[in-house]
Amino acid sequence: GKVVLAYSGGLDTSVILKWLQDQGYEVICFIADVGQTDDFEAARVKALSLGATKVYVENLRKEFVTDFIFPAVKVNAIYESRYLLGTSLARPCIARRQIQIAIAEDAQFVSHGATGKGNDQVRFELTFYALAPHIQVIAPWRDDAFIESFKGRSDLLAYAREKGIAMPSGDKPPYSMDDNLMHISYESGDLEDPATAPREAIYTKTDPRESWPDTPETVRIEFRDGTPVNVTSETTKESHSDPLDLYLFLNEVAKRHGIGRVDIVENRFVGIKSRGVYETPGATILRCAHIDIEGVAMDREVMRLRDMLSPKFSELVYNGFWFAPEMDFLLAAVDKSQELIDGWVDVVCFKSNCMAVARHSPTSLYSADLSSMENVDGYQPSDAGGFIRINAVRLKAHRKILLATDRE
Ligand code: ARG
Ligand code: SIN
Repeated sequence: GKVVLAYSGGLDTSVILKWLQDQGYEVICFIADVGQTDDFEAARVKALSLGATKVYVENLRKEFVTDFIFPAVKVNAIYESRYLLGTSLARPCIARRQIQIAIAEDAQFVSHGATGKGNDQVRFELTFYALAPHIQVIAPWRDDAFIESFKGRSDLLAYAREKGIAMPSGDKPPYSMDDNLMHISYESGDLEDPATAPREAIYTKTDPRESWPDTPETVRIEFRDGTPVNVTSETTKESHSDPLDLYLFLNEVAKRHGIGRVDIVENRFVGIKSRGVYETPGATILRCAHIDIEGVAMDREVMRLRDMLSPKFSELVYNGFWFAPEMDFLLAAVDKSQELIDGWVDVVCFKSNCMAVARHSPTSLYSADLSSMENVDGYQPSDAGGFIRINAVRLKAHRKILLATDRE
């Protein structure tokens, strides 16, 4: 049979590439470029040299930004109050293209190198099943024979030597990392002890503390229907409106100021707690700006409802349900909530922090007249007396009961 393998060029997926051939499969490699720092051409050459019959290197950067990151910005997505979902959002983007390739190649199988203990296996496979129910999944890290042969890293290295797989130079990578244009994650290694703080040198998407500038930088972010459409640094005057360009530019700004670091213990879908360190530079600024423009442009009750949907959306993304009916429903509701979310926000970036300090919206619901003491638009302060007394009816009844039953 024919299998499309999500290939990175690293040790694990190179071993899987050879192992699948040992099992009798023809292997087509798929390399997704979601903005990670990698040598894609070297990976292509490596895959071919290891017997892949074909290699696809797919640039998914723009669709990652427009189809996955921007919707998450619109709903202020955040998992367990801190994780901005950089890996979770990339998985359905990668798996979608992998399935498209499998269909085009008339392959009966797809495969990936995610472990049997993590979230990624779930995200990849739920996407595969949702988009092409007839295609079968090969997950070597859950295959008894595979696990039996590769009990430790030394087994992988021995097999690699035997099969002529170029060895990773240097020591074992100190962390399990997942890199893309939205974020990088670090897990395992010395981070497995939650009581140990990450070394300052771990960070790659944010500059070291000592070099954070002593002068703040202000960026103006413009939204249309809740989507960022322009970003300008008031300091450098550099400006971008292409979705990918503006996103990468925000990453640069956030990087110099050390914005977007997070260190958490989170709940994996499979029931395991896991310690992760993340850097999500640009998205941290975007989230700050987006929440702020909603402050002026979004109706209160729409906001309350949307705020109930936000954790649900984040959980669905985290758990791998991007291509699910409930997600379609949520995305439609989110789009509706964003129809009048237009305008700009100025965000000050300074020493790992960002803060919205000014905003303007053509669809603003804010009225300086209303919030001052003028009698306008039918608001009469004298009406507020009745409003308050009626709201107090319940509170008074409750107090009476407390007193009558001696509970107070
Ligand atoms: N814990 C994060 C998540 O589940 C990051 C996972 C990183 N994945 C990886 N293969 N290193 O989204
Ligand atoms: C993995 O287990 O493959 C990485 C971690 C995760 O998916 O949660």
